[in-house]
Amino acid sequence: MTHTITAIPGDGIGQEVIPAAIHVLESLNLPLSIQFADAGFRTFESTGDALPAETLRLCEASDAVLFGATQSPMTKVEGYSSPILTLRRQFDLFANLRPAVKDTIDLLIVRENTEGLYSRRERVEDDGQTAIAERVITARASERIVRAACDQAMQRRRKLTIVHKANVLKETCGLFRRIALDVTAQYPELAVDEVLVDTAAMLLVQHPARFDVIVTTNLFGDILSDLAAGLTGGLGIAPSANLGAGRPAVFEPVHGSAPDIAGQGVADPRAAILSAAMLLQWLGYAETAAHLTRITYATAHTGQTKLTADAILQQLQQVTNHAQ
Ligand code: IPM
Ligand code: MN
Repeated sequence: MTHTITAIPGDGIGQEVIPAAIHVLESLNLPLSIQFADAGFRTFESTGDALPAETLRLCEASDAVLFGATQSPMTKVEGYSSPILTLRRQFDLFANLRPAVKDTIDLLIVRENTEGLYSRRERVEDDGQTAIAERVITARASERIVRAACDQAMQRRRKLTIVHKANVLKETCGLFRRIALDVTAQYPELAVDEVLVDTAAMLLVQHPARFDVIVTTNLFGDILSDLAAGLTGGLGIAPSANLGAGRPAVFEPVHGSAPDIAGQGVADPRAAILSAAMLLQWLGYAETAAHLTRITYATAHTGQTKLTADAILQQLQQVTNHAQ
């Protein structure tokens, strides 16, 4: 069976790292049918639409999407909204899996991906003197993300940390915490603890190896996953998967479009390649995905910089030839 993949390079270095990762995928001799599609700020400027209907249609008809990065303006631009946020919402991709691996650190952040402070419910009152964001936490979304995290932890070292700020956010984090404790109680094989988000930030820096799986709400997961990337080699090697109940799933490097280094040929393609490996794993090519992941991390951890997709492919071919 052929799997259909839509590649969306987006803006900035997305235009470099996604073609590199697609080059790797295309060289693997797997039954993949890959098509490219447009999205992002440049697309918005030329068409008035950051995520054109045609792109959505292609994604909808795909098994998986490999997304680069798009440039999000810091101020409100009428008619523009972040394509990745739209994709997550459109396909109800509620689980954002963000691994961070280096030496003794083998961490997976499971970030809720559909609500919290990303509810898009922001408004100004008081003649612009007061700005309010609504943080939406539901039992339904909390339950499904914690369940996803438990399932991940069961396949790993069976340790799960619930991260929240229920001491201050008594209602929103309070609900998330209650549900998390209820759901995790159904997994007696898991060692479960809870840590406040500020403490979690400190412990991640001081004792990162103490963590296996972290489950948390949307914005906390966003922030902690950059922190975890910083601990394990930087955003250049931080991949992620956005998963829902069905298809398509969307895979993307954690990094942004990095306009400051775009077009110079210096962007690290490894976060995109590791995201492609997560995509392969999700499609069921577990062995290829594992080889690709191991080789890509290994090159990163020996301090090689400017590693090209071809160098990774060459090593991959050696491993697979050897195995035959
Ligand atoms: C991420 C990014 C996005 C987010 C931005 C680009 C909207 O920072 O995937 O971590 O905040 O989720
Ligand atoms: Mn982020």
